[in-house]
Amino acid sequence: MPHLAPPPILLTDVLDEVGDAVELLARHAPYTPLGGWYNPGADPTAKTRPMWFQNDWVHDTYTAPGSELFLHHPDYIEATKAYFDAEIVEPHSVYVNHMMAIDKAGPCHTDNPRFAGRDRANTPMWVLRTMFWSGLFDDEAIPQATAIWWLNDVDGGALRYWPDGWDEPAVEHGGRMTNTALLGDNHGMFHQVCAVGSGSGTPLVSPSAELGPVDVAGGDWAISDLGEQVFRAPLDEIRVSVLWKADVFRDEAHRVQLRDQPLSLDAVAERLGADADRFDDPDHQAEIVARFPEPRPTDALPSVYDR
Ligand SMILES: [Fe+2]
Repeated sequence: MPHLAPPPILLTDVLDEVGDAVELLARHAPYTPLGGWYNPGADPTAKTRPMWFQNDWVHDTYTAPGSELFLHHPDYIEATKAYFDAEIVEPHSVYVNHMMAIDKAGPCHTDNPRFAGRDRANTPMWVLRTMFWSGLFDDEAIPQATAIWWLNDVDGGALRYWPDGWDEPAVEHGGRMTNTALLGDNHGMFHQVCAVGSGSGTPLVSPSAELGPVDVAGGDWAISDLGEQVFRAPLDEIRVSVLWKADVFRDEAHRVQLRDQPLSLDAVAERLGADADRFDDPDHQAEIVARFPEPRPTDALPSVYDR
């Protein structure tokens, strides 16, 4: 088993002006439904997705204008240095989630890990996750800080998380979430979003649906789907979170070590007792995954994406 993450840090009054985030949210609309990787190749006109919308503001090759508000937030940098006892923090991702009317929780999960020379671009996700849960690659893991910031308080939508490990009870951050953020290591801590809304079912939308403001002055946002407006509400009633991620290095030597000593796929396979030539073979995958099983908290809530 890998090292457990310490409990996350709750930050309050994160932004001086929450209105800056509201303006940014509108500027970078529209948002599109989450879930492509659960259902790849889905019919773009079939209403299969819950009303959980997303957009990237910062990734490898793009930085949305204004997203520096989160990307370079000084409180995030300082809290990350303290949490990881580290000198170097390199923010690399910001993305946004909007959720409404989802009467089950989101998936209980840990975020996908990265290692020296190994990430989702060159390594199957099940291999990365098995590397993590094997505990055999802790020295090559690239520590990742995550901060989740919330715009508002809505019905439901608490973050349920396991600060003391998957075999200890969950706790929830809910009720007073406006302008707070939880900062820690979501790659080493299970977490899930609780049901959002007043419990009147989970209306579904098509993968081509779009969410955005209809009238900035009035504060209303709406979903248009297949040429029809299927949902409209004030932004206040939509659960909005902004996620931030950063690479973290203890010091320059640690950064250089992870950069200059990339793991080859064969080295990974050897340490797992696997055969890299058979990574595409479902039987081999099942055998290796069973050797290093991923735990699941017993008090996880059923997910809207469960089949
Ligand atoms: Fe997550």
